[in-house]
Amino acid sequence: MKYHLNMKRITLILASLLALAIQPADARKQPKTQSKAHSVVAVPAIEKTLVTVETDHSQLVLVTDRKGTLYNYHYGAKLSAPEDFLRYETRINAGYGTGPMAYPTQGGAYVNEPALAVKYADSYRNTELRYLSHTQRAKGNVVTTEILLKDYVTELEVRLFYDAYQKEDVILAHAEIVNGGKQPVTLVNYASSAMVFDAEKYLLTHMYGDWAAEMQVDRELLTHDMKVIETKRGTQATQWNNPSFLLSLNTESFSETEGEVIAGSLAWSGNFRLSFEQDVTHRLTVLAGINPFSSDYPLAAGETFTTPEMIWTWSCRGAGQASRNLHAWARNYGVYGGDKVNPTLLNSWEGAYFSFTTKTLTDMIDDAAAMGLEMFVLDDGWFATKYPRDNDKQGLGDWELNTSKLPEGIDYVASYAHSKGLKFGIWIEPEMANPRSRLAEEHPDWIVRAPGREIVQRRNQWLLDLTNPAVQDFVYGVFDNTMQLSGKIDYIKWDCNRHVMNVGSDFLGAEQSRFYVDYVQGLYKVMRRVREKYPDTIVQCCSSGGSRVDYGSLKYFNEYWASDDTDAMERVRIQYGTSLYYPAGTIGSHVSDVPNHQTKNVTPLKFRFDIACSGRLGMELQPKNLSAEERALADRCIRSYKQYRDLVFGGDLYRLLSPYEGNYYALMYVAPDKSRAVVFTYCTNYLNRAIGAKRINLQGLDPDRRYKVTELNVDKSCYSGSGQAFSGGFLMNGGFNPVLFKTFDSAVFLLEGE
Ligand code: DGJ
Repeated sequence: MKYHLNMKRITLILASLLALAIQPADARKQPKTQSKAHSVVAVPAIEKTLVTVETDHSQLVLVTDRKGTLYNYHYGAKLSAPEDFLRYETRINAGYGTGPMAYPTQGGAYVNEPALAVKYADSYRNTELRYLSHTQRAKGNVVTTEILLKDYVTELEVRLFYDAYQKEDVILAHAEIVNGGKQPVTLVNYASSAMVFDAEKYLLTHMYGDWAAEMQVDRELLTHDMKVIETKRGTQATQWNNPSFLLSLNTESFSETEGEVIAGSLAWSGNFRLSFEQDVTHRLTVLAGINPFSSDYPLAAGETFTTPEMIWTWSCRGAGQASRNLHAWARNYGVYGGDKVNPTLLNSWEGAYFSFTTKTLTDMIDDAAAMGLEMFVLDDGWFATKYPRDNDKQGLGDWELNTSKLPEGIDYVASYAHSKGLKFGIWIEPEMANPRSRLAEEHPDWIVRAPGREIVQRRNQWLLDLTNPAVQDFVYGVFDNTMQLSGKIDYIKWDCNRHVMNVGSDFLGAEQSRFYVDYVQGLYKVMRRVREKYPDTIVQCCSSGGSRVDYGSLKYFNEYWASDDTDAMERVRIQYGTSLYYPAGTIGSHVSDVPNHQTKNVTPLKFRFDIACSGRLGMELQPKNLSAEERALADRCIRSYKQYRDLVFGGDLYRLLSPYEGNYYALMYVAPDKSRAVVFTYCTNYLNRAIGAKRINLQGLDPDRRYKVTELNVDKSCYSGSGQAFSGGFLMNGGFNPVLFKTFDSAVFLLEGE
């Protein structure tokens, strides 16, 4: 046996020598960035080092071992003595291979999914990061920790950044990957952040969906091994899922109010990947970042790659608090103009589609003004002359005014809106072209396409190649030129109605694997230019509704269109799902016509308003089709919305009843000082009349304060206590019981502290 093994080894050595001898000379002269192959680089032992990243209530504890490997030991409640972790040893840390690495790399003893995998010029793929130093600096509410790590053989550096938002209990994490060597390298995996948890059970809440059914909730108890949530769609990245999740620890049931919950959301508008890997000890490593799918990213000598931000928050008071943390951070920092109230509006799409004249629009403006709305938005169909945009088959890309349709011009319509006291908005979809357009005829090289292959159409359109700086200039120009059509444009609705298919870029040539990343970075470059020149313009991120809902886009956009499904009953789940991560003021939510254009359902106008009023209220219909009675109700609902919308935009959200768990949906927004609140309640399924007086426990009120409860927009309330005052404690502990038992019963209550 022994002899046999030795013979085998000798045969192998001879074979390798032979292979070396017959290798072409060039191959043997390959650059050797890791050429100290057989003399192991000695790493001096260091003192164990502790790095803590803290917010008002949470703490992330990172500790090095004596080799300088950085571990993530704790993300959760604030500890009084985190330095105790300097004496924390586990068998697993001692080289078992699955240690809780702060930023796991392919290499060393680590054999699970890496955050970072690098292919070096000599084709080796080993990276083992060692701690070199860290700094911490405070600026107002934000403390930034920067940790410098370096591979101990190559010149590859990683800087980990953690921005800790004290009051909101939010930590933003990203990495800078620096190729400090003299040879190019290729990034194979390059996640933004890793987080490690040591719980017994993990209940994961994440999203799924499709066009007109976005943001549906999926929930599962994680098993061992790997769960991945990702998209490869390139654009419209959030139509089928979302780069956001909730993780309830040590429980099998979801709670809005109790237990430890982590929320995470990646600020990236393209391919994303969230992985959840649970090992035999129940340790869970969560990686979040750009999806490495088909995206090997070249990094030249001296170049740095900056990953998108991963937003983390921790709550010990259930999912509700986790959402509120994200919302508060979003309003203060994450959403462009997130601290402002966006105007109510009438959008022309479902009321007029492509068929309108100037008179159609001015009539709609008159009606919008009469109803008390604050803005009119002209949707698709106003542009293109050679191939007029009279349907979705042509004209997209040709952004000159269609003068036969609107001979008086955009400025006339915008000025008319302003003269009636309304703001004016207009629709663009600058990343796209119909094949039947001057743009596609003149710039075929700007289209995303692969040589010799069919360019797959989606909604009769092609995608422009935003990796190309000339296309970026064009897309910026569409925004800029549209703004020049009138000095009275207050709002742009930016649409994006398809995803990437049959990918290929004439511009990228031999570097096709940059496409998915460079596309998103191209979009962000355009948006930065837009914001430099137009800081005050309200820009809506539309994207077919719900397809670009992420904190990468919200850095530049004020709000988004949550779904093309405007059926109020459908919106219950879409808006509930969206509220898990994104604040209500960003959710464009419109009252539309019946039968609904998507579902054909007929829903009472009151129910439609009560749903739309829980976000940024708008209307999406031809007002002329409303009866006098409906107009009166619309006026009333719009008027009362203005009374409490500061709470929708700036209050703390409490989800009271989930549409997934029964026959009701209920939520409320409470003023930060608890002086006022607005409560929305809906019956989504018929119930026996006897059990119709639903007891709903309100939340977030001051238990000792008395609140006057008033049901809005009705002559006769469904709540016997409407008009009376009750203590917050009473309302929060089961005394609040409006009678809602028929499908579509709904009620909105204003609570005013005495
Ligand atoms: C899709 C959007 O979601 C709609 O609101 C509308 O703007 C159409 N595009 C216009 O083509």
